[in-house]
Amino acid sequence: MIELWNSFGVVALQQRLGLEALQGSGQFCFVDHDRTFTMNATTADHYSQNRSYQHSFGVEVLQQYLAWEGGDTVLDAGCGTGEICRYMSQQPGVASVQAFDVSAGFVSYANQNNSAPNVRYDVADVSDISTYKPEWKGGFSKAVCLAVLHWLQDKEAALKAIHSCLRSRGEILLSCDTEDSSFYRTSHNMASHPKWQPYLGDFAPNLFPWPSGDLVENRSRLMQECGFEVLSCHIKPHQQSFESKAKLMEALRGIFPHLNYIPQEKHEEFFDDLFEMAKDMHMVSTGGDSGYIGKNDTLVLHARKL
Ligand SMILES: C[S@@+](CC[C@H](N)C(=O)[O-])C[C@H]1O[C@@H](n2cnc3c(N)ncnc32)[C@H](O)[C@@H]1O
Repeated sequence: MIELWNSFGVVALQQRLGLEALQGSGQFCFVDHDRTFTMNATTADHYSQNRSYQHSFGVEVLQQYLAWEGGDTVLDAGCGTGEICRYMSQQPGVASVQAFDVSAGFVSYANQNNSAPNVRYDVADVSDISTYKPEWKGGFSKAVCLAVLHWLQDKEAALKAIHSCLRSRGEILLSCDTEDSSFYRTSHNMASHPKWQPYLGDFAPNLFPWPSGDLVENRSRLMQECGFEVLSCHIKPHQQSFESKAKLMEALRGIFPHLNYIPQEKHEEFFDDLFEMAKDMHMVSTGGDSGYIGKNDTLVLHARKL
């Protein structure tokens, strides 16, 4: 039975109904009980209201790694609800931002809440080049793909597709969790927790951290194989404080799709265990003047098209 659809569900449904069928839909949350699943555990509105960690991290890496140049055309692959697109569109030099996401609901939300004259949003799957618009090919001086690739198994297809959209010597900035990221370890441990595993079935393989064996001496073989010269490759620690435990837990709700498998009456108990696990994995800490803190270590890759 389909109660809600997740992002992969959108793609499957779009393939069956034709891509336009769901474009502009106000719906977002999509869980298919055949367990084709990705990150989207909540509504676009909820994600947008609870993405302070993703936003502060995104802005920080954009400022640290990208130097905007006059006339920059930017592709945002996996744009979510569009706040980072609007931010980029306002940077001096940026001519336009073309953004896309696999979730029609997120794209619809972005259109309604983060529109700007030089930003355009579309529905597409980053790892499926057949969903890209033909005019994207070779059209961009910069591409960003922030907090998306750990939801995808086929990173090579995604990277090659983005590569094809860049001009010669165009730059890509991406962030992705690794097996050592506290978010991945918390997610993985909750999925194999004896109390929750029976509800979660084969959920665990649905997060795909960047393979640690790929990263050697601050280089990525995968990036090189996909036609990029790596300019910088680092694991970046980041943290964000939350004014209350409730706010922190809402942020976690947006990125833990586990909840979609847990019966409603057990959500509170699941959250209690999730909070303890996140503390054990150093994904959250409490106490002191800063209240509640969310933390993670994330791979940040900056590269140039060869
Ligand atoms: C954590 S959010 C990050 C959103 C945005 N980049 C940000 O920094 O706020 C991950 C996004 O990846 C999108 N996503 C997941 N799989 C995708 C795919 N195959 N193609 C495009 N977007 C995808 C999700 O729908 C979600 O909006």
